[in-house]
Amino acid sequence: MKAAVITKPGGPDVLEIHDRPDPVPGHEQILVRVRASALNRADLLQRRGAYPPPAGAPVDIPGIEFAGEVVALGPGAREWRVGDRVWGLVGGGAHAELLVTHERAVAPIPDALAWADAGAVPEAFITAHDALRQADARPGEVVLVHAVGSGVGLAAAQLSRAWGMRCLGTARTPQKLDRARNHGLDAGLALGTDLATLAPFVREHTDGRGADVALDLVGGPYLDATLGSMATLGRIVLVGTMAGARGELDYRRLLQGRITLRGTVLRARPIEERIAVTRRFGAEVGPALASGAVRPVVDSRFSLDELPRAHERLESNATFGKVVVTMS
Ligand SMILES: NC(=O)c1ccc[n+]([C@@H]2O[C@H](COP(=O)([O-])OP(=O)(O)OC[C@H]3O[C@@H](n4cnc5c(N)ncnc54)[C@H](OP(=O)(O)O)[C@@H]3O)[C@@H](O)[C@H]2O)c1
Repeated sequence: MKAAVITKPGGPDVLEIHDRPDPVPGHEQILVRVRASALNRADLLQRRGAYPPPAGAPVDIPGIEFAGEVVALGPGAREWRVGDRVWGLVGGGAHAELLVTHERAVAPIPDALAWADAGAVPEAFITAHDALRQADARPGEVVLVHAVGSGVGLAAAQLSRAWGMRCLGTARTPQKLDRARNHGLDAGLALGTDLATLAPFVREHTDGRGADVALDLVGGPYLDATLGSMATLGRIVLVGTMAGARGELDYRRLLQGRITLRGTVLRARPIEERIAVTRRFGAEVGPALASGAVRPVVDSRFSLDELPRAHERLESNATFGKVVVTMS
């Protein structure tokens, strides 16, 4: 098979396309021909040598999500047939023509979705869905999403609207907020370096109450500003650390607001948990993707050969939605 390989830590030019032996499905595994994948911050970090893949994943082939068709079944695998369209998450190895994964760690792709759109779904929608579920977000509540023009952000905004929540969001780029209004965002704040504008914005749009749920995809100083924008008994899920992995936190606000703060990560979860989260996504989000109630948002598409350009595109921070990688 053809596979993208990180030849050494560095910039996009360290990525090369190599021939690699086809992977062989083991017990209860399936062999999947990848038709489309997408790029994630994890791929950029791994390429720079700052995010080693979890045990069991290919060490030098990036790619943590895929949409593809089943081409072979390993011993004991009986949930799928050759030709079935499936999508899911892996610890690595999705930027290649073939991969193997546990047969229960995938979900069916609705017929309505073309491959290139399907490739934009798994990481964004599974992360957003799982984070909203962890936060116990309920209809009628207000969800605050930082970096709302991101892949995960736009999935969270759409799911919020589909489930009867109101979505407030931030981005550093006002144009992304305008576009995000077509994808579930109710009100947006262009957030510059002055994070003190966040709490008044949220209070203005919640009759002074604050947000019930926040998905913080940015971290760094955003977390403390988010804490100051929450309603009593609000729930914050820290999903990303693009603005830094450390910061100050007002503990009194945490106590007085009886706020819940939790972190989440998908890639490092044990297989049984990844199976559970993928199956719940398939059951609860699959129908909404099939009906078009929520849709993948594709920023741009690149072929596997163009992977270095895809990395440059994601690194530019100019993207709106997902950077998709299609296999020939
Ligand atoms: N925990 C998990 O399991 C999990 C899973 C998936 C993703 N993530 C994390 O979630 C975050 C979002 O992922 P994604 O793939 O949806 O992102 P994405 O599509 O790559 O979009 C990220 C956007 O965030 C904004 N941004 C970048 N650096 C920023 C900074 N320093 N301060 C404020 N905004 C910044 C930029 O938009 P603007 O500047 O225009 O606002 C950028 O376009 C990432 O941190 C990613 O690692 C975590």
